Amino acid sequence: MKTNSSNSLLTVPTGPLKISELPPSRVGTSGESIHLSLVIPTYKERDNIKNVVRILSQLLDESIPGNYELIVVDDDSPDRTWEIAESLTTEYPQLRVMRRQQERGLSSAVIRGWQVGTGSVLGVIDGDLQHPPEVLMQLLRSVEQGADLAVASRHVEGGGVSSWSVVRRLLSRGAQLLGLVILPGVLGRVSDPMSGYFMVRRSAIANATLNPVGYKILLEVIGRGNVGKVAEVGYVFCERKEGESKVTWKQYIDYIHHLVRLRLSTGRVGRLSRKVNFPFGRFLRFGLVGFSGVFVDMGVLYLLSDPTTLAWPLTRSKIIAGEIAILNNFLWNDAWTFADVSARQQEWHQRLKRFLKFNAICLGGLVLNVLILNLVFNFLIPNRYIANFIAIAIATIWNFWINLKLSWRVTDVK
Ligand code: GDD
Ligand code: MN
Repeated sequence: MKTNSSNSLLTVPTGPLKISELPPSRVGTSGESIHLSLVIPTYKERDNIKNVVRILSQLLDESIPGNYELIVVDDDSPDRTWEIAESLTTEYPQLRVMRRQQERGLSSAVIRGWQVGTGSVLGVIDGDLQHPPEVLMQLLRSVEQGADLAVASRHVEGGGVSSWSVVRRLLSRGAQLLGLVILPGVLGRVSDPMSGYFMVRRSAIANATLNPVGYKILLEVIGRGNVGKVAEVGYVFCERKEGESKVTWKQYIDYIHHLVRLRLSTGRVGRLSRKVNFPFGRFLRFGLVGFSGVFVDMGVLYLLSDPTTLAWPLTRSKIIAGEIAILNNFLWNDAWTFADVSARQQEWHQRLKRFLKFNAICLGGLVLNVLILNLVFNFLIPNRYIANFIAIAIATIWNFWINLKLSWRVTDVK
């Protein structure tokens, strides 16, 4: 493998998070594929990394000497975990180290590690010794015996958590329950879908483009991979001795986001969405943004025109309120609904252009809205609220579709 700044660090792969079917060949080795590539994601684990590497190496040297590699993927930890890991490579020849400076996040770290891995079996284990190393060989054996995926689980026989508070247990189970509701086809397949300790056959995830958010990489593997037989091995999630957990409330948000995204792209909606070529996920976001605009519009209208506030004339107030709502919607759509597109077009004049187009299209949408309301009300359904609802729905689809094709598309093509 090639190197970056210092000369024994791995080069970070770029591009889509996709595992190739055939392992990448390694410069300087016989080219023979290694059996197990075990990724250890780390962030601020300077007090653990040495022990982890020592214990895992010892264990694997006993059972599959020379037939494995450990890949530490560190996200440029300020405590320089990567540097310590790198200094261990002379003592542990099976150890390889990646220092990521551009990307962040546990899940993508694991995938980047797998991408350089040459094994036919890809695994992951935490770098803080909370995952008992002894379970490793049981996981590997399960895969050897035919499982596509072997998961270390806290919720099967022999599994558990050491001393979690009731609150933490409830949160963990609540998250799992929520997952079962949103994504039963994925979470229903394993007893511990939150596990970050597992092994998967390369062939089961090869060629799938993984697209994880946050911490739960296993969801992605099951959701997008082609996983047949699953095995589970019980383990007790130990307490941390050194360093601290990086889990914050943000991981819960990420988790829900991840579930919804997987659901939309892999479930029935995903299949339908591909078939009719309609981006439902985007449309949902667009709709939510539009909904937020209603409140902005109402709020500003109140501030400007209410007799108890500024008491401006209604029409003038409404024009300003409408425009501020449009600005609100534009900003959210640009940063969220179409984030992938706008990320590639960040210059101010490009943004401005999108905003002007968005404005024009929304104006067109308003005209359409009034037109349809009248048509439906006068000729079809003489109920103004139902008619208005239909008008809003059609105008929203129009707004979405034209914006997709013009505001966030043309700039993309250029
Ligand atoms: N490269 C990288 N980048 N590594 C990270 C990052 C990151 O952004 N965030 C965390 N890590 C590393 C940590 O250094 C540790 O080795 C591992 O990922 C797990 O992180 P912790 O912060 O220790 O997580 P935890 O112990 O609370 O959470 C774990 O919960 C599950 C059980 O529900 C998960 O990480 C799972 O692996 C575990 O099974
Ligand atoms: Mn941990």
